[in-house]
Amino acid sequence: MVGEAQTAVEETLDLAPLDQILEEYKGTPGAVIPVLQRAQEIYGYLPREVLTHIAEKLGVSLSQVYGVATFYAQFYLTRRGRHTVRVCDGTACHVRGAPKIISALEEELGIKAGETTPDYRVTLEVVYCLGSCGLSPVAVIDGHVVGRLIPEKAVRLIRDLK
Ligand code: FES
Repeated sequence: MVGEAQTAVEETLDLAPLDQILEEYKGTPGAVIPVLQRAQEIYGYLPREVLTHIAEKLGVSLSQVYGVATFYAQFYLTRRGRHTVRVCDGTACHVRGAPKIISALEEELGIKAGETTPDYRVTLEVVYCLGSCGLSPVAVIDGHVVGRLIPEKAVRLIRDLK
């Protein structure tokens, strides 16, 4: 019973902070993008309930809001991990072993690149050139660039993420 109650609480979103933002943008043209950005800062991603609420309050169609949310890479429609690991597989990193790093991390985390662990600890992504080719192979872990990676080191760093 306790478990069920906890799940129910987790699944109920508090829309009050979103309402405050929507109030700020009331009647402002072009509000969809800034409101989506602020909503994502609050919830970590953009759940359907949030998109529906934004559409209703801004008086635009849900498909319009979805269109914006899916067009820009900065918006996430699914829940993200507490940590984000982006491994570069651009040309320089690829030739210096990025595929092995990606495989090692996929195996360690039990997910494929582009996915999030079921406990929402880590989201693993592959990107193509982080602009640090001189340090290849490179990954960015929670915003910190880590260069000259080898699979063992990458796995160690990921294990340290709580
Ligand atoms: S190719 Fe990986 S940082 Fe440029």
